[in-house]
Amino acid sequence: MNKSARRGHYGIDAPYAPFFMGIGLLACLALVVFAHIDSFLISATILPLILAFYLHTTLRGKFVAWHQLLASQRWRGDEHVLDLGCGRGAVLLMAAEHLPQGRATGIDIWSSKDQSGNAIDVTASNANAEGVADRIELKTGDMRELPFADASFDLVVSNVAIHNISARAGRDRAIAEAWRVLRPGGKLLIADIGKTRQYQQSLAALGVSSQRHSLGWRMWWGGPWMATVLLTANKAAAANESIEIVGSS
Ligand SMILES: C[S@@+](CC[C@H](N)C(=O)[O-])C[C@H]1O[C@@H](n2cnc3c(N)ncnc32)[C@H](O)[C@@H]1O
Repeated sequence: MNKSARRGHYGIDAPYAPFFMGIGLLACLALVVFAHIDSFLISATILPLILAFYLHTTLRGKFVAWHQLLASQRWRGDEHVLDLGCGRGAVLLMAAEHLPQGRATGIDIWSSKDQSGNAIDVTASNANAEGVADRIELKTGDMRELPFADASFDLVVSNVAIHNISARAGRDRAIAEAWRVLRPGGKLLIADIGKTRQYQQSLAALGVSSQRHSLGWRMWWGGPWMATVLLTANKAAAANESIEIVGSS
């Protein structure tokens, strides 16, 4: 997929991170050029690479990875999808493209520390730009306390959002909520940095088995030490349901 195919504007994730990388790079260059401390040459060489990986992931890599991930699901077209921490709609609006008769709901607290220019109006305007506004619902709310009934979504997704909850108990709560609102036969797709083993443990505590795998270099937030891992879990279909609603990846 070509990033230029997206018509919305999706900002930069955790904009303070590339900002500090840029400051670090300038400081290293200044130390080499003006103070002649050659040992900073190594950092001055590596930092642009780290910055380039970060910017590539936030501006293009995550779109390519999720485009492929969503395309690999089996869709009926009338599913209800929930995106936890949807931000400006990168994943939410791509999911909506698979839902000609369905609905994609995004919930967020719209933190501009976590994503530049994050605001419900911006996401709504991106939904218009992508031509999916008729199938989108946006809610302001905390993923630790979802304002939705049990078993109301066929697919629950989340991209680099749950780790923003600082306390483990809060992240456990978000995972339990994601599972609660998923209907039997539905699927959970959570991509995140750092904490996915914990999410797997939270699901295991609920009696749920899940799988983890890396989403590859396209979702390195600076390098392999900050890779994005995808956690997948399927909720068993109810006894009277004979078909799988959302297919395995
Ligand atoms: C790095 S951004 C990613 C946004 C979007 N998923 C994407 O891939 O573009 C993380 C998002 O999580 C949201 N967020 C953080 N804590 C949250 C919470 N407790 N409940 C709901 N959203 C939250 C932030 O406001 C932000 O939009």
